[in-house]
This record gives sequence, C-alpha cells and structure tokens, in this order.
Amino acid sequence: MVSAQSFVQRILKNQPDEPVVAKASVYAPANIALIKYWGKRDILLNLPNTASLSISLGKKGTHTEISRASGDADEIILNDQLLSCDNFFVTRLQQYLDLFRPHPQFYFSVQTLSTVPVAAGLASSASGFAAMILALRQFFGWSLPEYQLSLLARLGSGSACRSLWQGFVYWQQGEAADGFDSYAMPLADTWPDLRIGLVIISDKAKATSSRDGMLHTVKTSPLYTIWPEVVAADLARIRPAISSRDFTALGEVAEGNAMAMHATALAARPGVCYSLPQTIAMMQKVWELRGSGVEVYFTQDAGPNLKLLFLAKDSEVMQQVFSDMVVIAPF
Ligand code: PMV
Repeated sequence: MVSAQSFVQRILKNQPDEPVVAKASVYAPANIALIKYWGKRDILLNLPNTASLSISLGKKGTHTEISRASGDADEIILNDQLLSCDNFFVTRLQQYLDLFRPHPQFYFSVQTLSTVPVAAGLASSASGFAAMILALRQFFGWSLPEYQLSLLARLGSGSACRSLWQGFVYWQQGEAADGFDSYAMPLADTWPDLRIGLVIISDKAKATSSRDGMLHTVKTSPLYTIWPEVVAADLARIRPAISSRDFTALGEVAEGNAMAMHATALAARPGVCYSLPQTIAMMQKVWELRGSGVEVYFTQDAGPNLKLLFLAKDSEVMQQVFSDMVVIAPF
C-alpha cells in the first residue's frame, strides 16, 4: 500500500524544499460537482470509485497566504480568527502540511480567507486544499506540471483536485494502485449564459462530513452497488450536453445524479440524510417553477444547501423568487 508521504516524496523528489519567497499568496475557486465523487477505493490516497465532473465558482473560493511561522508551532488564521490547535480544521490542515515540511520543526503561518461558508456543503475544503497546494508551490518554487498539483491537492480532499481551474473540470478515476493516474483536468468548453445560484439554507457545519458519509454509504448501502453505473451513464450524457450547450440535458443529468447520490446515502444503515425540511421545500419550489416554464435545476452536495442551475435569460425571475440567492456567472 502506498502512503500519502511516499506519494508526495515521489512527486517532489527533485524539487526545492527551502522557501524561495517570504510569503506566497494565491486563490483557488470552490467547485460543485455536476456528476458527484461519492465513494473511495483508497482512503489514504483519496482514490475515487468513479470519475466526476464539476464546475468552478469564479470568485467564490479561498484566498490563502503562507509564510514561515516565527514561533515553534503552526499559526492558522481562518477568516481573521486565530484558530486553536484542537480545532478540527487545524488538525486536518496540519496533517496535510506535515506532508510538505522540509523538516519536522518547520512551522507555517497560514492566513486563509474563505468566501464560501465553511463546511456547509459548499466545497470549502476543495478550494481550501487547492489554494494550499498552490501556495506551497509558490512558496517553495516547485516547477510541476498541473496534473501533479492536482494529484497533491487530492490528498487533502478528493474534490480539491478539481479546484485548480475555473470552468468545467473532469476528474478521471484512474486505475493504478499507486494513484498516479487519478487527477483532474480542465475541459475546453465554455458556457457564457450558464448561471449558478447559491441559496444558503444553513451555514452550520454539517453533522456527517462528506468523508464519513461516503465511507458509511459504501460500506452499508445496498443501493451503492449501482452507483458506478449511474455515474458512467450520466457522464456519457453530460459531456455532449456541455459541448453542445444543451441546458435541458445538463440540468436533468446533474439533478438526477445528485438525487441518486443522496438515495445511496439515505439507504445506508443507518441512513444519512443531508437535507433539512427547507431543502425539500426548496426542491419542490424548483420543480414548481420548472413546471411553470422557468428552466431551473438543482444539485446538492453533502449538506442541506442547494445550488441552482439556470440560464442568464431567467436571472431576473430567479432573483425575484429566491431573493437571498447569490448568482455566479462561471464563464
Ligand atoms: O472532497 P470531499 O471529501 O469533501 O468530498 C466531496 C463530496 C461531494 O461534495 C458530495 C461530491 C463532489 O464530487 O464534490
């Protein structure tokens, strides 16, 4: 079995390991999956059971600055707040940073500003770890092909490997046991009229993380066995929908794929339900609107918030119906 440490060493073996700048400063966008990553074949390396496909969220994401800490501990500031070392976010980040310290007494000062609500199923860990690997590259002056940065981001959080680019991004599943062929790549397609609406139902941290939720689902859900087939069929339909800008096909596939993912989780034993009553009410509102001729679809990750997909021509009516919605034009 390959450890995360040896995976990193293999990629960085000829790269500098002393800082080349005093401070690195980067940004990475959040992304939402239209075809979900749900289930791992290797927990340590975050290797997925299927491919997935996402869209990045423009200016919604994570700004990160890193420098060398002056004291003898990491210093982690999230959204202007210094976090204590027993914080869950700090532990997770430090474990990731452990993979990249030139020596064990090398500590980082990290300032990170998230423009998406943390842990609300809005992919804050994806942009967080993607920004971290971009910051480390700048800090140490690594020269690595982008796919290798994607491999390294994946170790922080699977979906982070898709957050290195704007636009549509495809994460190929890969087959190798060492995980070297499981990385993301941007698609050339653009779609200037596409809009994504973020409606925050709750910004509280979720009870079951995506990590735990997917592990438990893979282990116990009788519906999980068909998930790889669902993903293969959905990918086969969404790729041409993107190329030909067929919004109906894109929306139907994305919404159906999210529902199928949640169905596998609901059928786990015990079931995992990421929805709140307001989530269901909002789904019904979306279906009602669609029935009345406004073409809108939703997708949902491991949290109660829905992300809406619609076209620019419907922006006005959408904003009237969902007055608190933040609208993103990803292209
Ligand atoms: O990267 P993770 O471990 O946070 O998992 C992400 C899981 C989903 O958001 C539900 C789906 C996805 O592909 O982003």
